[in-house]
Amino acid sequence: MCGIIGFAGKTDAKSVLLDGLERLEYRGYDSAGIAVVSSKGELQVEKSKGRLAVLRELVAADKSVSGNVGIGHTRWATHGEPNDVNAHPHVGEAGKIAVVHNGIIENYLEIKNSLIRKGVTFQSDTDTEVIVQLLEYYYKKYDDIMDAVYKVLSRIKGAYAMGILCSDYPEQMIAARKDAPLLIGYGDESNYIASDVTALLAYTRMVTYMEDDEVAVITAKSVQIYDSDRNILNMEQHTVDWDIAAAEKGGYTHFMLKEIMEQPEAVKKTISPRLENGQIVMEELSKVPDLMQNITRIYIVACGSAYHVGMIGKYVIEKLLHIPVEACLASEFRYSEPVLGEKSLVIVISQSGETLDSMAALREAKRKGSKVLSIVNVMGSSIARESDIVLYTWAGPEIAVATTKAYSTQMVLLIMLGVYFAKQQGLIEEQEYQKVIDSLLELPEQMTEVLKNLDTYQKIASRYFNHNSIFFIGRNLDYALGLEGSLKLKEISYIHSESYAAGELKHGTISLIEPGTLVVALATYAPLVEKSLSNIVEVQSRGAEVIALVTQETAATIKERVPEIFAVPQTHPILQPMLGMIPLQLFAYYVALNRGCDIDKPRNLAKSVTVE
Ligand code: F6R
Repeated sequence: MCGIIGFAGKTDAKSVLLDGLERLEYRGYDSAGIAVVSSKGELQVEKSKGRLAVLRELVAADKSVSGNVGIGHTRWATHGEPNDVNAHPHVGEAGKIAVVHNGIIENYLEIKNSLIRKGVTFQSDTDTEVIVQLLEYYYKKYDDIMDAVYKVLSRIKGAYAMGILCSDYPEQMIAARKDAPLLIGYGDESNYIASDVTALLAYTRMVTYMEDDEVAVITAKSVQIYDSDRNILNMEQHTVDWDIAAAEKGGYTHFMLKEIMEQPEAVKKTISPRLENGQIVMEELSKVPDLMQNITRIYIVACGSAYHVGMIGKYVIEKLLHIPVEACLASEFRYSEPVLGEKSLVIVISQSGETLDSMAALREAKRKGSKVLSIVNVMGSSIARESDIVLYTWAGPEIAVATTKAYSTQMVLLIMLGVYFAKQQGLIEEQEYQKVIDSLLELPEQMTEVLKNLDTYQKIASRYFNHNSIFFIGRNLDYALGLEGSLKLKEISYIHSESYAAGELKHGTISLIEPGTLVVALATYAPLVEKSLSNIVEVQSRGAEVIALVTQETAATIKERVPEIFAVPQTHPILQPMLGMIPLQLFAYYVALNRGCDIDKPRNLAKSVTVE
């Protein structure tokens, strides 16, 4: 949530800052701002409510904003409504220090009140402003910016990634991190900070991921990182192998559409390195070879779409391993006193690897002695670093706020993991195992086939985009998939939608079905197709209009009863949602397009939720 960029170089900072913010806009887009410090030591700030385009205009009109060192921020409001004053950067009363900040300062009110008592006047409603006012307070006292920074860090509680400028130090910016992502990028006569590697891809691939409690001083020529006791640390540099093209629209109208279309390739990249000579290989697991030896229960913990992957995993892995598998919402898990210990394996799923609730669940699991395996897309992210084992999805950068290719790569990887464990424990017959392998090999091509029917998805979406409430129903894996179909629709089209286990409808919700209600009925899961078809009849007899998601095998039979059909090829039943998800993603996409919604940046949302 919220994006940070910082630049220290030999050229004008503002173009790098604005460009970086554009790439970070998906992290928050209710306001944006930049601060630069000129070589003469003048601090200049421009910030504004609204999208980055507004800030661009302001900066273009104000020629005085010029300097080689600067910081920028794009905001997703937590404390204080989105307006010009609450936008970052925040500047202290003396006008010497500017700060951009991601995270939440939990004790901000206490600090704010104590500063007010000392005569400080606050401008904004944000928690961030206390950082900068406190910095100026200590700077005045100690006359040394690093002394002031360390003193402030010792007083604030909560999560932060921050960039700091001080006009008395025109050549440097300072960065600090705790429980919120921040990385340093190394360029040619220029160095950078960013909350997210996509902001830096145009400039550098060499990065250092900052750790909690570290502070860095960055100039055009040097980077120095310190620990919490101010000892100088060695910097571990990593090369990022993401391609800049992957973070650009490349001719598509929306990142979401581009990322949906990239799924066959992303899934192939995720599967291929893990298939060798007709076997699933999980090199990553060699670190803990006896991982599953005494495991009697698995928890899959995640948020949003990643949790929906967890639901798929619950059905698949429980069936394969014959042990209880629970899919848990990370925000609930951490406060529900889960029964954890050495015999539980906790699987955390997160595209960003920075979701605070998932991170907290991970820490709780480790604290209680469970091993944590994570499925993550962003290399070097916090969840990846704190897990015992990481399995990376190779989806590449995902920019659209609504996840698609990260979701599908997470799903295929989790299913492969389940099958791998089943094989390792002798719980899957060789013939069945080979069927799964064959299906995995065939999957990217089948996905491409499903993606060819854009016309159908578009046509059906244009017929139904005016509905204001839509139900998704399904059983077992179809139910788990319906949860995601419904979320995709809600988040980008703002249509109210519910997803129900089809068999549960008659226990209450069916009362909401009336003539004209739209029901998207999922009936792809082979073992339960008959039962799902009965549920279709059930809602139709109450007047519902139905769109059915079925396999091509079932399509002919059902065509007479249901005129609107999304038909996908058949694959192994445990992989079937990998094909079924595509029409649902595209249905949501085209419905949102018809309704004129801002698809890549839906209202109130931001990618990577780093607050509780
Ligand atoms: C929905 C969506 C969110 C994320 C959720 C978890 O389209 O993107 O529901 O899936 O916020 O995010 P990660 O996977 O980064 O932990």
